[in-house]
This record gives sequence, C-alpha cells and structure tokens, in this order.
Amino acid sequence: MKAELLIKNIGMLATATGSAAKAGNEQGEITILKDAWVTVNDGNIAAVGTGEVAVEADKVIDAKGQLVTAGLVDAHTHLVFGGWRADELALKLHGVPYLDILAQGGGILSTVRSTRAASEDELCEKTAAVLDEMLSLGTTTCEAKSGYGLNMETELKQLNVVKRLNESQPVELVSTFMAAHAVPQEYKENREEYIRQIIEEMIPYVAEHKLAKYCDIFCETGVFTPEESRKILLAARQYGLEPKIHADEIDPIGGSQLAGEISAVSAEHLIVCPPEGIESMAKGGTIACLLPATSFYLGATFAPAKDMIAAGVPVAVASDFNPGSTPNLNLQLAMNIACFKYRLTPEQVLTAATLNAAAAIGCADKVGTIEVGKQADLLIWNAPSLNYIFYRYGNNLVDTVIKKGEVVKSK
Ligand code: NIG
Ligand code: FE
Repeated sequence: MKAELLIKNIGMLATATGSAAKAGNEQGEITILKDAWVTVNDGNIAAVGTGEVAVEADKVIDAKGQLVTAGLVDAHTHLVFGGWRADELALKLHGVPYLDILAQGGGILSTVRSTRAASEDELCEKTAAVLDEMLSLGTTTCEAKSGYGLNMETELKQLNVVKRLNESQPVELVSTFMAAHAVPQEYKENREEYIRQIIEEMIPYVAEHKLAKYCDIFCETGVFTPEESRKILLAARQYGLEPKIHADEIDPIGGSQLAGEISAVSAEHLIVCPPEGIESMAKGGTIACLLPATSFYLGATFAPAKDMIAAGVPVAVASDFNPGSTPNLNLQLAMNIACFKYRLTPEQVLTAATLNAAAAIGCADKVGTIEVGKQADLLIWNAPSLNYIFYRYGNNLVDTVIKKGEVVKSK
C-alpha cells in the first residue's frame, strides 16, 4: 500500500512504548531502532521499520541519519495570562520568598490584575505567539491551566482562549480549570465565599460547557489547605473534572498524601515531597508531574525523582511555563535540568516528557510514542542520538516538527 508520508534514513528512532504511564525500571526501558523509517497515513503512524524501505510514498522526508522521537508533551503550563512579571526579578535576587511576594498582593495576584484587564482577543494573540515558539521547540501537545482570573468572567475568558487556539493552531491543548490558584484579594477576609463560588458556580458551569478536562489547586501554606483542596477536588470530580494538585512546591503540608488518597491523576511540583507522599502516590496510582525548571528558577531544591521512580510512581517532566515561578516555555531545557539535577537517564527523561506526560493529561492512547496507530506527532532532531540532546543542552536541537502527519515547523 502507498503511504502519504515516509520518513526515511532515521539514524536513531527512540521511543517509549504503550498507552499507559511507565514506572519503576520500565520508565527507562525504551525502544531504540537504528537505520529506521516511519510511514504515515491519515495523520497516524502506519508502519515503523528498519533497513530497506519496501513502501512507496507521496511525500518523502530524509531524516539524514538523525534522531527521531515522538513530539514532546508539556503536561503542565499556565499558558494564558496577561502581562509579565519582570519587575519581580530584583525582589527574587534580593531573596524575597515567592510566598511573601504573593502575600503582599504581588506574584499570582499581579498577573490576575493584568489578565482581568486584557481582552480575550489580546490574550489569544499573545498565547498564539507563545504556542508558535513552543512548537518550534518540539512541543506538539500541551496542557493549559486557567487560574489568573479568580472570578467566573476571567476564568472563562482564559478557558475560551484555550478553546479557540485549539481550533486554530497545531499544538493540541488540554484544558485544566484552576480557579483555586489563589484566593483573590476581594475575598481575602471571606475565603469561604470564594470556595463556595468555585464549587457551586464555576465548576458546574465549566463542566457543563466542557471547557476543561481537569481541575487543579495550589495546595500550599497561605494558599489552600489540604482540607480545602480535598473538598474542591472531590466536588470537581463529581462533575467529571478529574483532580490534579500543586503539592509540596514550597512546604510539605500534605498535598502529595492527599493526591494519593484521592487517586489524583497527577501531583505537580513535589519539590519537598516526603516519603509518606511518595508512598501515598504509589498506592493511589498518581503520576508525579515534576517541574525542574521551576526549582532552578526559584533557587529551590529538586524533587526526589529517583526515589519516586524506585517506589513505582511514574514521573512526568513538564515546563510549568508561567509568568512568575518559571517564565520558560522550552521543554527541552526542563528535560535537560531533569537529567542533570534529578540524575535521571536520557531514556527516563524521554519517557517523562512524552508517554508519561501524555498519560498525565489523558491522551496516552493517541500521543507520546512512535507506534502503529498513534498520531503521527514526530520530531526530527538536529542530533544523531538521544544522548546528544542532553549533552548539547541550551540550544534548540529540534529541526523538523510533524503534527498529525503534517510538517508544521522546519528549520
Ligand atoms: O506552578 N505555584 C503555583 N503556580 C505556578 C506559579 C504561578 C505564578 O507564579 O504565576 C507554579 O509554579
Ligand atoms: Fe504550576
């Protein structure tokens, strides 16, 4: 049979396999094919082979002996926001803690003001440019959280931006509702009322209009307690929004334990995750979505990724792109930091930023690996091997980006 597209002369094809997150030893057990080729039909992978190519194709791409992997999946971003926060840099360098900036009405709350002030069209235009950059860097699927509105109107504005962009540009987006990102200043003295609005008004509306797949919360000192987190996340689940939780980013107040207890899809950050949290996540089947670029940028310690893998918790690695704790959208950089600071192998990190990331956002059945029947989301790297993309950190080593069988970026 004739294929629509053939990618030939692949020096190394590196991919995780399967449609579920990998944990333990399996996280590092990927498939490596030398002298490989891939064919595509109807946007999906039709065949994968090595050596002589027996298939004819309408279009042929010569990978010139370079590395091919699945498109990267960024499972944690705060994609849509107004403004930037470059003015916080000096505070950071003077050692003002992240939570102190927030408590003074800055940080997330400063971005809330800018996001409320921006129109939906302005946010769309700004975010489209961000996604275009991400695509050049190899991200073909991306999660996007709301959480800079902290009221119905602006949370919906953010979610609508994601919906519009999902229909108008190549990076596939998965939406997460996160009104529980902070308590807005107008409810500082009446947080109960804000929580009531989230549970009784926002979650039902978002679910009914299918504006998000997940619900996330910032479970942290001075933000939301584990009890409040449990209440909000369980309410969201009743409406079909599965829970995610920002846990143990700064203080270990019980977020990771809660994540496991309620079998959250994923727990995010986990920088200071205690052994009880790891145990709970392993029991609950929760994926650890780690954000190493955030540790780097906050000058924090690094999540105990190896302990998690050893305990059978699947590890995903994501960018956490946001205007405060990580204004970085380059998932390659996060992967590099994961390798050098978590001491994970390139194979473990590849699984973390493709298959496990896809599982953390519920799309491992269609993206995250190079296997027959999966979506043809592929990267041709300007690198001869998997090791090379970790060795040569700091550059964009992606040469060609293919989304659903179409070349969407090429250097
Ligand atoms: O994942 N920790 C909470 N949320 C983001 C930061 C958001 C911000 O600073 O604007 C994070 O790090
Ligand atoms: Fe985050």
